[in-house]
Amino acid sequence: MEMPQVALPLFTVLLLCLACNAQLSSTFYDQTCPNALTTIQTVIRRAISQERRMAAYLIRLHFHDCFVQGCDASILLDDTPSMIGEKNAAANKNSIRGYEVIHKAKSEVEKICPGIVSCADILAVAARDASFAVGGPSWKVKLGRRDSTTASATLSEREFSIFQVGVEGLISIFANKGLSIRDMVALSGSHTIGQARCFFFKNRIYNQSNIDAGFAKIRRKKCPASDGNTNLAPLDLVTPNSFDNNYFKNLIQKKGLLETDQLLFSGGPTDNIVTEYSRDPTAFKSDFATAMIKMGDIQPLIGMEGQIRNICSAVN
Ligand code: HEM
Ligand SMILES: *[C@@H]1O[C@H](CO)[C@@H](O)[C@H](O)[C@H]1NC(C)=O
Repeated sequence: MEMPQVALPLFTVLLLCLACNAQLSSTFYDQTCPNALTTIQTVIRRAISQERRMAAYLIRLHFHDCFVQGCDASILLDDTPSMIGEKNAAANKNSIRGYEVIHKAKSEVEKICPGIVSCADILAVAARDASFAVGGPSWKVKLGRRDSTTASATLSEREFSIFQVGVEGLISIFANKGLSIRDMVALSGSHTIGQARCFFFKNRIYNQSNIDAGFAKIRRKKCPASDGNTNLAPLDLVTPNSFDNNYFKNLIQKKGLLETDQLLFSGGPTDNIVTEYSRDPTAFKSDFATAMIKMGDIQPLIGMEGQIRNICSAVN
């Protein structure tokens, strides 16, 4: 045989190593940083007890990270002289918050095990802890993602601009990320918490017909037709601070705040799922957990790809 003796064992080790890193696993830090998850959880809980809306920011942060070049913490990178990142892209600027909470969690984790836990994993854990802290489900977070060395405002704008294309368009955007129609409806249930700016629902409350008249009238009070773009309204008008299924009940009553919310109950293929979740909060929460795990699986960097950043806002 021409292959040198040493090649076979080396090759086997390489194969094994590829296999062991080939996918994310909930036990990834069990040996290398056993207290990582409780450390992150303490920071997240404290932040949400200080400001309840932080739960919404943290869940959305993970979503916006995962939909642009995968769950790789690209959203956390600050701009540099040679790179305009995602933070200042249209979908995130003046809208996404929570960065400082992730940085706090990262610095606490660095104290106990430096260089081990990725920012991308911290985002995934934070989203799970945020859900649970406000009455939503918990789930086993898969771990082992690594952090990107780049981010791109252009890519972010491309991914999020196509969100204005009807229910079939929404379905295909999620399908492209490996998420089913059911996943999409369940994930949209995140709008059971948090707020939106008048800018995003102005056209809906002044111009649309598939909206409850009384609801539109109330929302117009703090969202004038030609002003007030940054004024806020809760995405779930009944219980904006707790993670429940009222969001779906609202949709059935034509009280969805965003056009894209109401699209999920407007005579299309998602109506029956909305109806199911409006009647069965347990099914919603269970599907939400499943869908969050799937979302966290979008294109992770694994093995030797990317890096473990020392601080989340800059590459090493
Ligand atoms: C189906 C497509 C979606 C669209 C078109 C959409 C759009 C929006 C918009 C326009 C806002 C308001 C932003 C602002 O006023 O600054 C918002 C807020 C929010 N979104 Fe979505 N979203 C979608 C899916 C999701 C998903 C999948 C999640 C999480 C898994 C999510 C979580 C949130 C949360 C928690 C908020 C409230 C944030 C806050 O309080 O500031 N959204 N979304
Ligand atoms: C309502 O629709 C018209 C026509 O498309 C548009 O010019 C106007 O800006 C819309 N109003 C609001 C408040 O969005």
